[in-house]
Amino acid sequence: MSKRSLSPKKVSESRTVMTEMIMPNDTNPMGNLMGGYLMRWMDIACAICAGKHCESHVVTAAVDHISFQNPIRLGDVITLEACVTRAFSTSVEIFVQVYANDLKGQQPRRCNHAYFTFVALDDEKKEPIAVAPVLPLSSEEQSLYESAQRRREMRLVLAGRMKVKEATEIRKLFMETD
Ligand SMILES: CC(C)(COP(=O)(O)OP(=O)(O)OC[C@H]1O[C@@H](n2cnc3c(N)ncnc32)[C@H](O)[C@@H]1OP(=O)(O)O)[C@@H](O)C(=O)NCCC(=O)NCCS
Repeated sequence: MSKRSLSPKKVSESRTVMTEMIMPNDTNPMGNLMGGYLMRWMDIACAICAGKHCESHVVTAAVDHISFQNPIRLGDVITLEACVTRAFSTSVEIFVQVYANDLKGQQPRRCNHAYFTFVALDDEKKEPIAVAPVLPLSSEEQSLYESAQRRREMRLVLAGRMKVKEATEIRKLFMETD
């Protein structure tokens, strides 16, 4: 097993930025980027970010709801920004945002975002292993850190891995809105 650090890490230490240009092979018959290709790039950017934070191999365990707010066109340049929001025992949540603009840098727009969950694996790529905590510094990092617990409960309940009665954050949320 290679030496890994389990000391708390700043979000900036694993922040990952990836840029792609949309080529003809990436588009649907309307000339827009295929959603599946975008999801692939999102998965890659998030995996790099998770791997950096965990200092280990990682696998995608879950992807939360993704919606496509704005079409991305042939020739556009997209930027994917991935950052870790929170670490749990053996998993981390990664937030990714996608922005697009044309080649001249004009018409910038935010196209979509999603939350991915990755599990850190040992060097044999078999068993989940402990991950370093996240040290949220800015107010945005702190807000993402706090809301991560609620998103985690939601996805574990939906996956049948947690009972609703154990999902304290979600229960609190619904009680507040009554
Ligand atoms: C992800 C995987 C390693 C989990 O294995 P497991 O035997 O369920 O392991 P555990 O029960 O110990 O759970 C490990 C972690 O995964 C998390 N996890 C498992 N399923 C999850 C889900 N549906 N959503 C969110 N987290 C999940 C658990 O909460 C746990 O995290 P924690 O330790 O931080 O609480 C295993 O299911 C796997 O290898 N899946 C395939 C991954 C893959 O191939 N991804 C690419 C898709 S093509």
